[in-house]
Amino acid sequence: MFHADSSAAIIQDGEVVFAVAEERLNRVKHYAGFPALSVKACLDFVGAKIKDIDHVAVGQDSDANLARKVQYAVANPSGILNFIRMRQRKQVVRDLRSLLAQALVADAKALRFREHRLEHHIAHIASAYYCSPWQKAAGFSYDGSGDFVSTMMARCEGNHIDVLDRVFLPDSIGSFYTTICEFIGYNQYGDEGKVMGLAPYGKDTYCQQLRKLVGLKNDGFKLDLRYFKPLGSTEGMQVMTDGRVRLPRHFSKRMVELFGNPREPHMEITQREMDLAYAIQHRFEEIFFHLLNQLHERFPSEELVMAGGCALNSVANGKLFECTPFSHTWIQPAAGDEGLAIGAALHTYHAVLNQPRRYAMKNSYLGSEFSDSRIEAALKKSRVSYRKLEREPLLESVAERIASGDVVGWFQGRMEWGPRALGNRSILAHPGLPNMKDVLNARIKQREWFRPFAPSILEHRQSEYFEHDHPSPFMLHVYKIRPEKRAQLCAVNHVDNTGRLQTVRREENPLYYDLIQAFERKTGLPVVLNTSFNENEPIVCTPEEAIDCFHRTRMDLLAIGPYLVSKCVN
Ligand SMILES: [Fe+2]
Repeated sequence: MFHADSSAAIIQDGEVVFAVAEERLNRVKHYAGFPALSVKACLDFVGAKIKDIDHVAVGQDSDANLARKVQYAVANPSGILNFIRMRQRKQVVRDLRSLLAQALVADAKALRFREHRLEHHIAHIASAYYCSPWQKAAGFSYDGSGDFVSTMMARCEGNHIDVLDRVFLPDSIGSFYTTICEFIGYNQYGDEGKVMGLAPYGKDTYCQQLRKLVGLKNDGFKLDLRYFKPLGSTEGMQVMTDGRVRLPRHFSKRMVELFGNPREPHMEITQREMDLAYAIQHRFEEIFFHLLNQLHERFPSEELVMAGGCALNSVANGKLFECTPFSHTWIQPAAGDEGLAIGAALHTYHAVLNQPRRYAMKNSYLGSEFSDSRIEAALKKSRVSYRKLEREPLLESVAERIASGDVVGWFQGRMEWGPRALGNRSILAHPGLPNMKDVLNARIKQREWFRPFAPSILEHRQSEYFEHDHPSPFMLHVYKIRPEKRAQLCAVNHVDNTGRLQTVRREENPLYYDLIQAFERKTGLPVVLNTSFNENEPIVCTPEEAIDCFHRTRMDLLAIGPYLVSKCVN
């Protein structure tokens, strides 16, 4: 709460039963206010009132690492006033009982829950470890910042997470990445993924220079702070009064002296921007592997659990098997800060209340679901013609239309938890048509030309198409596509011959699996192109939002529950 990607989750007897990011409900991207609608959605899902809740946990503890914060403020006198303001603001948002009572129109005195605060990065690691199938793993979390820490290493065993090491601000590999993104004109919160897509268009012009800006150390890494602005009250981001997030400028004049004037967002992308994108991704990976190797030395394990916003860097994730001793990863699908809700809740259950572990996350479908009658009511209200189909004819029709080159909105079951659409709020298309990327961009997504689209592949066919067979159920790894398959997957083959794949198992999502199989029967390809169901907005949540997006864009077909919708006006 009061942090980007505000969210809520509810656990019942140790099992995560519902989780959602506030942006999906209030439609404000990366919303950073209080997650009132998410909390209400959690309670509605289990049929409870806030007075029924036993424990409330928050993945944020403003008292954590206080000595380090004070030390930094004293060493940077210009920041002392901001530091005091930050502490005052934190006091205002600390009264959880009143905030919840107000949001849910309840009597604060009737609320009996115990309140728990957990340090940001422990919550990240908890969100991965307690959802993993393992009883023992190395834990790693890294992001821009959280509770004055940017990186954490931990030993996870049984019910416990023991912190091995922290890297404190202002040293932050996440902020370093953000700084270069800002410099090359990607200055919105969450733009790092775009720059990761731009990186393969660059070449090694600036890698050596970036190595000087951030050096490796035996116990982590160190930024050359002359190139970065000192931290203010924000730990790297500003939350506006309406809950939107704004990034202040991170780079100093010295960076401009080194690389020339920064690019403004509306300006053309030149080779310099591509080369800087290449260099930042390259240096990021070097630091990441250095840290993971250090973690492995301190806690040798085959298994790695990982979260934090930087864990969404799927290119780095895809390479870690070659560059570190770890053999298996479990990465939280909501690796960013929305995932803290799950981490804080599960940590309370296992580490504080000492309850046994019995839960492993089977899939990411933890969000809202809508009945057929509710979907049909939404269709009736809108001016679309539709027909209801049984399961098999629906799959056949949709697979046929995708095979023929149509772009299909696919709205089914429970919404995904985390930033990726994984086959329940997706737009699907043929991955092997040479013009499909341009068609999608022109007709629906209007994304930057350099950003790739992702493939969903049946898991047991992965190694036929990709050079690595570690599964990627949450679309968090990028692997090379095999040379002989690149033409067949041309719409999802990035310029460096990679794809950010989602591997699909039938147990995880039977309907989506069967659809891909139906597509395979028609085309020979066990792969569909999968992009999120949205158009410059948070991913659609409700049937109304899906129908509205279908109307606004030039999608050919919408499969929403058992209904197939075409664009003929009645
Ligand atoms: Fe974080």
